[in-house]
Amino acid sequence: MSKPRVILTRKWPEGAEARAKELFDVVINEDDHKMTVEELKRAMCDADALCPTVSDFQIDSEIFNVENRKCKIVANFGVGYNNIDTDAAKEVGVVVTNTPDVLTDCTADIAMVLLLSVSRRIGEGERLVRSKAWTGWCPTHMLSTKVTGKKLGFIGFGRIAQAVAQKAHFGFGMEVSFYDPYPPSDEIVKKFSAKKFDTLEDVLKDSDYVTLHCPGGGDNINLMNKERFALMKKSAFLINTARGDVVDETALVQALKDKVIAGAGLDVYAKEPVVTEELLNMQNVVLIPHLGSATTETRVAMGLRSLENVEAFFNGKEPGDRVA
Ligand code: DGY
Repeated sequence: MSKPRVILTRKWPEGAEARAKELFDVVINEDDHKMTVEELKRAMCDADALCPTVSDFQIDSEIFNVENRKCKIVANFGVGYNNIDTDAAKEVGVVVTNTPDVLTDCTADIAMVLLLSVSRRIGEGERLVRSKAWTGWCPTHMLSTKVTGKKLGFIGFGRIAQAVAQKAHFGFGMEVSFYDPYPPSDEIVKKFSAKKFDTLEDVLKDSDYVTLHCPGGGDNINLMNKERFALMKKSAFLINTARGDVVDETALVQALKDKVIAGAGLDVYAKEPVVTEELLNMQNVVLIPHLGSATTETRVAMGLRSLENVEAFFNGKEPGDRVA
């Protein structure tokens, strides 16, 4: 029997591409270009499975409804799947999967990196040293904000948020609170001695750091807007490792300029790879390029997980990470 044909929309790390070649008749994006909508449509007709990712054009109704579509499963490389219109997938009966779990710790690490960096002015300090403008230690130089023991509020308290809580609560003695419309078990709440708030606004008012862990798209677009920034403490920091569209970047810029909040650490942006120009010139923000899952171990594991879903599907089994 011939192997299913699988198209990877972007280049994958070596270990994951090697496994794809073992399992399938795989088409690799050798020059790692962003596939056009036309290419994605052709891929839907050419392949039995498509493995897209966050930086692709959205796999939307137009792409799912392409004439002579052959593709039966879209196995995302990534836990967030707002790059796929799952309603459109359901309408045409295409299965969609994602890659949870394998990136939890590395993404949580990056949330902590941002929290610590923005709070302790690490970006600024590094720029100072590199520019050779540092004139030496003195008692008042680059004073920043202590992290240990402070209040960390979570918007969304799923797997990645809980991994951040693990590091922040047990490593840095931080007090944990959260708002999540789908709250975790009481056991988990107890584990972190967490405060469960009934509204997002309560978290914003209470926290020294607010970290976002909700899905992007839909109702969450611009969840953090002008009114909500105004509820945060003036001394508070915003951390975003979720999706850029959850934050109204214009409102964030204004809140930073007007000192409504103290700073922000961002891994994700509304229009990646474009970053609002004004943010680039602010000292009290730490800006990194969507690095949450970017370790070799995790990116290989994401590829393997995506392939496991495709393999299960073509072996007539329910893929473990089915989201549509
Ligand atoms: C994820 O998996 O959602 C990461 O943000 C990369 O897409």
